[in-house]
Amino acid sequence: MSTQSLYKVSDSIAADAHINNEKYKRMYQESIVNPEGFWREHAQRIDWMTPFTKVKDTSFDDHNLYIKWFYDGTLNASANCLDRHLETRGDKPAIIWEGDDASEQRTLTYAELHKEVCQFANALKSQGVRRGDVVTLYMPMVPEAAVAMLACARIGAVHSVVFGGFSPDSIASRIIDGKSKVVITADEGVRGGRIIPLKDNIDQALNNPNVTTVERVIVLKRTGGDIKWEDNRDVWWHDVAATASEHCVAEEMNAEDPLFLLYTSGSTGNPKGVLHTTGGYMVYASMTHEYVFDYKEDEIYWCTADVGWITGHSYMVYGPLANGATILVHEGVPNYPSPARLGEMIDRHKVNILYTAPTLIRALMAEGKEQFEGFDGSSLRVMGSVGEPINPEAWRWYHEVIGHENCPIVDTWWQTETGGILITPLPGATDTKPGSATRPFFGVQPALVDNMGNILEGATEGNLVMLDSWPGQMRSVYGDHERFVLTYFKTFRGMYFTGDGARRDEDGYYWITGRVDDVINVSGHRLGTAEVESALVAHDLVAEAAVVGYPHDIKGQGIYAYVTLTKDAQQSEELRQELRQWVRKEIGALATPDLIQFAGGLPKTRSGKIMRRFLRKIAANEITNLGDASTLADPAVIDVLIESRLNRS
Ligand code: WT7
Repeated sequence: MSTQSLYKVSDSIAADAHINNEKYKRMYQESIVNPEGFWREHAQRIDWMTPFTKVKDTSFDDHNLYIKWFYDGTLNASANCLDRHLETRGDKPAIIWEGDDASEQRTLTYAELHKEVCQFANALKSQGVRRGDVVTLYMPMVPEAAVAMLACARIGAVHSVVFGGFSPDSIASRIIDGKSKVVITADEGVRGGRIIPLKDNIDQALNNPNVTTVERVIVLKRTGGDIKWEDNRDVWWHDVAATASEHCVAEEMNAEDPLFLLYTSGSTGNPKGVLHTTGGYMVYASMTHEYVFDYKEDEIYWCTADVGWITGHSYMVYGPLANGATILVHEGVPNYPSPARLGEMIDRHKVNILYTAPTLIRALMAEGKEQFEGFDGSSLRVMGSVGEPINPEAWRWYHEVIGHENCPIVDTWWQTETGGILITPLPGATDTKPGSATRPFFGVQPALVDNMGNILEGATEGNLVMLDSWPGQMRSVYGDHERFVLTYFKTFRGMYFTGDGARRDEDGYYWITGRVDDVINVSGHRLGTAEVESALVAHDLVAEAAVVGYPHDIKGQGIYAYVTLTKDAQQSEELRQELRQWVRKEIGALATPDLIQFAGGLPKTRSGKIMRRFLRKIAANEITNLGDASTLADPAVIDVLIESRLNRS
C-alpha cells in the first residue's frame, strides 16, 4: 500500500478526539481480553432502572446458541433518549426538521419531543396497544416517525418500521409475519417533489385477505390530500393524541425484551424479521454513535438515511438521542430540487457531522463540482459513509468537495443484523485508506475464513465472520429461531457469518469486497435475488427468471434479470417495460430491474441447478474468462446469452 493513499490523522484532530490511536489500541485490547469488565463499565452510559449484575452470556455453538447481554437489568429506551435529558437539555433542540420544500422548517426541543412521545404513547394505549404488541409503522420522514418509534418503546410495544418505498404486497407480508393489530402511517408523504400515497398503500395492503390482524390504522395528517377512510378502523393521529395525557410512565423493560423488528432480505425466502432487544442495543448504538463520529455536546448531526432502514434506527433515532444530540431530519432527498441541496442544508443548519451513502456521493459526483461552488461547509468536522463499499474515487471526491480535505471520513461497515457499526475508522485514531472500513470497533472480533471454515491469518482474503458476540447483535428471526441459527451460524460452525467477503491488508485493515451470497446491494438497499425472481415468475408470461447484480456507476449494483417467457408470449420492448412495472408493483421501486434480457434457456447443471456464476459474468460484461462450461446440461446456451447480452459498457 503506497503511503500516498494513506490519510493520516492530524495531530490536532487526535488531540481533540474522544479516542486517539493509543487509546484505541488499549481499549480494544481490553475489550477482547476482558469483555465482561469492558462492557460492565461502558454499559453505565445507559440509565438502568434496575442495574444489571450479569454482563454477557453468549454462545455461537449452532447446537446450543444463546445471546444475552445485561440480562438481569431493566431499562426503557425512550427514557434513555428523552427523560434523562430533561434536566440539563430540556430546551436543547432534539430534532431540527426540514421539509422536502425547504420553506418548511420545525424544531422540537427535548422537552417538546418528550411531551409528544408521552401523549402519543398514551394514545397508543387508548387504541389497545399493549406491552409486547408489534406495531407496524409506514411513515414519511417527519418528526412523528421518531415520535411513534419512541412512543412504542415507552410502553414496551415492538415497532416494525416498513420503508415508505415498499409496495402494498411487501407491507402486507410484514404485517402478517408480525401479526400487527395497529398500523401507523400518514395520509401522504412528500419526497423529491413527488407525493407518496402512503395511506392508499396501507389500504391496499389491508385489502389482502391474508391480513387479518389489523384493528386500527392511525393516520398522521401530513399533506391533507384526499384519502379513503374506513370509519371503524381509521383514526387521525391528532384526534387520538390531542386528548391524551402528557404524562406517561416509561415501562420497565428487561434488557432482553424486544425493542423492534426490522425486515431485511436474505439469499432465500421472504424477508426476515430481524429482532433486536433493548439493553445491549442501546448500549451499543449510543457508544458507537459517540466514538465513531467523535460526537461532542452541542454538535449538529445529520444522517441522511430513511427511518425505514437500520441506519435510521441506530444512527438517526436511538444512538444520537440517547447521547442527547441534536439531529437534523430531512423529509426529502439530498439532491432535490438540485444537487446543491446537500451543501445548502449543511450550511443552513451548520451541520458538524454528516452520515450518508456512497450512492448519493456518486450521484452528486456525476453532476460536477460546479454544483458546490456556493458551498461553504466550514461547519463540517466528521463525515461517514455506509451501506455498500465506497469506491476510492467517490471517497476522494467526498473528502475533497464536501469535506474540503479536513474532515476525517469514517467508512462504517455493519448490517441490519449487527444493530450497530462493527468495522470502522475512529476519527482521531485511525489513519484511513480510501475504500477500506479499516479496523474493528471495541469488542468486535472479525476473522476471515476459507470455504471450509478455516481461519486465515495475515494479509489475505476470505469470508467475513465474527468470532464472538457484541451487545448490539440481533437475537433472533422473529417467529423463526431455527432460521436464525441456520442462516448465520451453520455455514461456519461456531461463528457468525456476515454473508460478506473481505480482504485484510498488511496493516490489518479490512476491505469489504461485497456479498458472497445471493444478496445484492442496490443504492445501499439490500435485496435477495430470489425475491425479484419470485416476483417475475408471478407474471403470467414468465416461465423462469434468474436475477443477478452487475456493476452500476451510481447504484453500486444494478439489477440484471434473465427472463424465459412462456411458449405463447412474444418478446417485445413493451413486455420488458411491463415486467419492470410489475416488479415495482410487487416489491417496490427499489427492486425494479435495470436490465431484462429475454433468454431462451438458462445455464443449468444436469441436475437442473442454475449456474449463476456464468450469469453474473455475462451481466458484468466479463465474457473473456467465463470458466468451465462442460458441466452444463447444454453449454450452447452460454453463447446465445453472450450474443444478446445487454450491458456492453
Ligand atoms: C450489507 C448490510 C449497515 C446499514 C446499511 C445497510 C453492505 C454496509 C458497508 C460498508 C461495504 C457495506 C454489506 C452488508 N455494507 N456497509 N461500509 N462497506 N459494504 O444495512 O441493508 O443490512 O446491508 O451492506 O454487504 O452485509 P443492510
